[in-house]
Amino acid sequence: MIGWPVEHSRSPAIHGYWLAHYGIDGAYTKEAVPPENFPAFLSTLSEHGYVGANVTLPHKEAALRTVDDADPAARAIGAVNTVWVDERGMLHGANTDAYGFMTNLDACAPEWREGYDVAMVLGAGGAARAILHGLIEAGVPRILLTNRTIAKADTLARDFGDSVQVVPWEDKDSALSACRLLVNTTSLGMAGQAPLDIMVSALPADAVVADIVYVPLETPLLAAARARGLTGVDGLGMLLHQAVPGFERWFGVRPEVTPDLRALVVATL
Ligand code: ATR
Repeated sequence: MIGWPVEHSRSPAIHGYWLAHYGIDGAYTKEAVPPENFPAFLSTLSEHGYVGANVTLPHKEAALRTVDDADPAARAIGAVNTVWVDERGMLHGANTDAYGFMTNLDACAPEWREGYDVAMVLGAGGAARAILHGLIEAGVPRILLTNRTIAKADTLARDFGDSVQVVPWEDKDSALSACRLLVNTTSLGMAGQAPLDIMVSALPADAVVADIVYVPLETPLLAAARARGLTGVDGLGMLLHQAVPGFERWFGVRPEVTPDLRALVVATL
């Protein structure tokens, strides 16, 4: 895991669990690499003894520029979070965030696909970009996008085309009654941050509410959704599922996201 800083990453716990569980003789370590050294470090991964890497803040966009070849998700999202070196020494990049979000959503709330005509996404950072890509790939016909800084939502919507429509941050409550799926990608509700102020009661009775925040696991948004009888999907599942394609690529085993793995990571939160 390459980041700057990188101490707080939970990825070593996830991959360490799978390495032990599948009896693989390998290691997953953390590398704190400052931005000025990042392209050179990534380009010489095998010289550092690695077959691949995960990339986190602030390097995800630089990773896309550095790899020899990137998958369609990474190109659409504009960021790479998973890389591997092939037998010819070529550096490949992928983005598994949309995969992680969608796989977790399907696992926790498969009903979201029934009549998923309108979804609302809150936020316009890197996570929102990944989730918009995932929802559009899944065929969601209409996505309402809102963000405190509306210009960032406008830019994002322009990149994704006609199915994404921007709603002013102040007007989000009035658009909720049409939304079968609500996704929070802002940092509101995270420990130490203000809760997200949104009228959960305005959502339809069969709506699904997903939060990408996972500290705390039960955000005020998810608590309000569950209190109303809606299905809540927490952010930890996305983190666990986004790790699967990388592990499979590096170690040759497709790992499973199990309750034991989840419990192990929950204990570190
Ligand atoms: P990430 O890459 O993880 O998505 P980010 O780029 O820092 O993170 O984005 C954080 C998101 O949380 C942004 O959409 C941000 O809104 P702005 O674009 O207006 O900054 C949103 N956010 C953070 N604090 C917020 C607050 N107090 N009220 C509303 N939105 C907030």
